[in-house]
Amino acid sequence: MKDIKTYTEHGGNVYSDEGLLKGKNIIDFSSNINPLGVPKSFLNNIDEALESVIRYPDIEYKRLKKAIIEYHASETKLEEDNIVVGNGAAEIIDLSLSLFKNILISVPAFVEYEKTARKWGKNIEFSYLKEDMHYDYEDIIKKIDGADAVILGNPNNPNGNLIHKEKFYKILDKCERENKIVIIDEAFIEFTGNKSLSFVEDLKSYKSIFIIRALTKFFALPGIRLGYGISSNKEMIKNIKSIQNPWNVNCFAETAGVYVLKDKAYIEDTLKFMNSERKFFVESLKHIDFIKRVYNTEANYVLCSLSKIEASKLYKLCLDHSVAIRVCHNYRGLKGEFVRFAIKSRKDNLRLLEVLNIISENLRC
Ligand SMILES: Cc1ncc(COP(=O)(O)O)c(C=O)c1O
Repeated sequence: MKDIKTYTEHGGNVYSDEGLLKGKNIIDFSSNINPLGVPKSFLNNIDEALESVIRYPDIEYKRLKKAIIEYHASETKLEEDNIVVGNGAAEIIDLSLSLFKNILISVPAFVEYEKTARKWGKNIEFSYLKEDMHYDYEDIIKKIDGADAVILGNPNNPNGNLIHKEKFYKILDKCERENKIVIIDEAFIEFTGNKSLSFVEDLKSYKSIFIIRALTKFFALPGIRLGYGISSNKEMIKNIKSIQNPWNVNCFAETAGVYVLKDKAYIEDTLKFMNSERKFFVESLKHIDFIKRVYNTEANYVLCSLSKIEASKLYKLCLDHSVAIRVCHNYRGLKGEFVRFAIKSRKDNLRLLEVLNIISENLRC
């Protein structure tokens, strides 16, 4: 059997042949997907996509961009050439990072930032989060001198903390003056339920901001692969498009985007559920004996440090109960033992808590 590190690089790898996951009906806490499931607004209109299979998608994605423009209308006024659509946020991360030579990455962070920058042969500098998992703004402003672009999450993965806007404006002002780009990955921002925490409203004042969004997480569509980048820097949008494959978004993703972004009921239901479930879940985790610290989160996942048990051991014990969790061994900058849990339905969350309590009891024996 392979070392678990080979198949736990990302959450959600429930296809592994390594014997641990295979053939099990797994409750997957390793991947952070809205537990409300695929929006009905998409499923009810899926025939539209089926009928479109015979044609190439609109190479300009006008209808999808119109939906994105309307979705953000209360925050900022976008035009088509402020938007680049992608095959998941991952494509936008990949292509946006490819444009720069020297990249500053705040870590720990989504592992694809570093992986992508390495793939493109970039010069990479890291700014480490503080011990409490907040951004180190002083460090970022110092290190930004040597970079053309910086990438960071709002909220960040794996911890779920947001960028402190007031502290960040100093960095944005410097980047604006010095023609540097700030790539803000907001793949999880909708889970906060507060638009003012996003940097979308700042796009009108800062050409240096490039925001990445995904429909993957909040709208529970990881298999659809739809994300987008937005910026008032039309040059950057144009540059990304110039290196992008044509028809990169298929007709199912296009249809999904058009319908789910205006699905107000789904958005409201999710926020109502997540706001209360997050509190319940975080508080409950604090009572697990071997969890040393539960980190603050504004997202739909919770980072925990462990004592008395290694993360890889906990992973295996949880799998014995058909529960998959995210071991955080490959997050640069996480020292010690860390795991991340998605916030799922109340029923699933209770099952996880039950499993963690059983493990905790057994450790005591
Ligand atoms: C912070 C962050 N950004 C982007 C992505 C990739 O999103 P997508 O599946 O839309 O490519 C992930 C996936 O886990 C993520 O955690």
